[in-house]
Amino acid sequence: MNSGTDNRGFDSGLNGLPPLALYVHMPWCVSKCPYCDFNSHLAPSKLPVEEYVEALLADLELDLPLVWGRSVQSIFFGGGTPSLFSAKWIERLIEGFRARLRVSPQAEITLEANPGTTEHDSFSAYRDAGINRVSLGVQSFNKNMLQRLGRIHGCAEIETAVESIQSAGIRNFNIDLMYALPGQTVGGALYDVRRAINCAPSHLSYYQLTIEPNTAFHVNPPELPDDDTAWDMQQQCGELLLESGFRQYEISAWARQGFRCRHNLNYWRYGDFLGIGAGAHSKLTLPAEQSVRRRVRQKHPRTWLEAKQTGQWLAEDRLLGEEERVFEFFLNQLRLYEGVRKEQFTPRTGVTWNRVSVRVEKAIESGLLTDSNGVLKPTSLGWRFNNEIQAIFLPSAE
Ligand SMILES: C[S@@+](CC[C@H](N)C(=O)[O-])C[C@H]1O[C@@H](n2cnc3c(N)ncnc32)[C@H](O)[C@@H]1O
Ligand code: SF4
Repeated sequence: MNSGTDNRGFDSGLNGLPPLALYVHMPWCVSKCPYCDFNSHLAPSKLPVEEYVEALLADLELDLPLVWGRSVQSIFFGGGTPSLFSAKWIERLIEGFRARLRVSPQAEITLEANPGTTEHDSFSAYRDAGINRVSLGVQSFNKNMLQRLGRIHGCAEIETAVESIQSAGIRNFNIDLMYALPGQTVGGALYDVRRAINCAPSHLSYYQLTIEPNTAFHVNPPELPDDDTAWDMQQQCGELLLESGFRQYEISAWARQGFRCRHNLNYWRYGDFLGIGAGAHSKLTLPAEQSVRRRVRQKHPRTWLEAKQTGQWLAEDRLLGEEERVFEFFLNQLRLYEGVRKEQFTPRTGVTWNRVSVRVEKAIESGLLTDSNGVLKPTSLGWRFNNEIQAIFLPSAE
């Protein structure tokens, strides 16, 4: 099923399967940050940990026939706050996944952690459970800013978490940092990046704060730095990261050599992923049907948990149309500094190149993209106005 030879005769279509990743959503947080629109919910006083873990394994069974025989290259425990689950339960899950799926022995297995989750185990316990990459949600090193962002931790908790990660010997370690924060100056942004570098992570996710609908910041918007200041922050902090040995490989992702996030790279390269847990999304290539399937789990943790009895795990289950595949392919790939190899387009989307050639030409003529030896890359204008590139590939823009 997983070799291109099964699909001979579809040379212009989905001939072969991309790498497969597993995403596991843990939907609870100690409190809801005012900027966050992730599917995260206030943790009840007693988390139904065991119930959730067993439900995750039952949920996985649903999709096994869609990925039979395929090897899983990465696992990502995301949230919410996965570090609210102790190492014992993470281990139970990893063992359960290995019993049901072909998890590659070299798989990258990431745990997202919040420095303020005091219930969590030491990171050596997570390492022993099978975690080999940690992503720590730091956001800022400024005490007042952390309060303004509604974070449940201060700088001392960040330092304790970093020490615990380092003493566990986990070298594959990411820090999430945000910039263009309420009232932040360029100096303030540089201070945060310097402090992050001093923690010696191998990866930095560096996001510009955005105000999202359905968040407390949307209702009461804080005053944010203007676009030019945000651009200066990005440029100056980028220079600092470059001098410190980090390389930018995606709009918001910086890594030391050998430490790019394999799980996220697979999303951006329009690989396949199976998502389990409340609200998780899956994208799975079906060569026999010459299509791509999108599945979305029930969003609310309670409704999703009830599915163990009702069997109603899914809120959405459909095949993606050609134009959706085109849009998703470009939306993701054009975030990457490596760009898009044109030869990858048809095997990943099942759509022939002539369906998009006019739009690609338009992006090149507008100075947003370059085409060099079959590799498309955003120009510096394209990086700054990535939304304009996206608009060109929107289904309605055809
Ligand atoms: C699921 S959270 C990470 C783990 C954990 N929940 C935490 O916050 O510590 C993913 C990351 O997305 C980023 N993020 C969330 N909302 C954002 C927003 N509105 N603008 C920019 N970045 C955001 C934050 O850096 C956050 O750490
Ligand atoms: S802890 Fe993370 S997932 Fe939870 S509300 Fe805050 S940013 Fe969102």
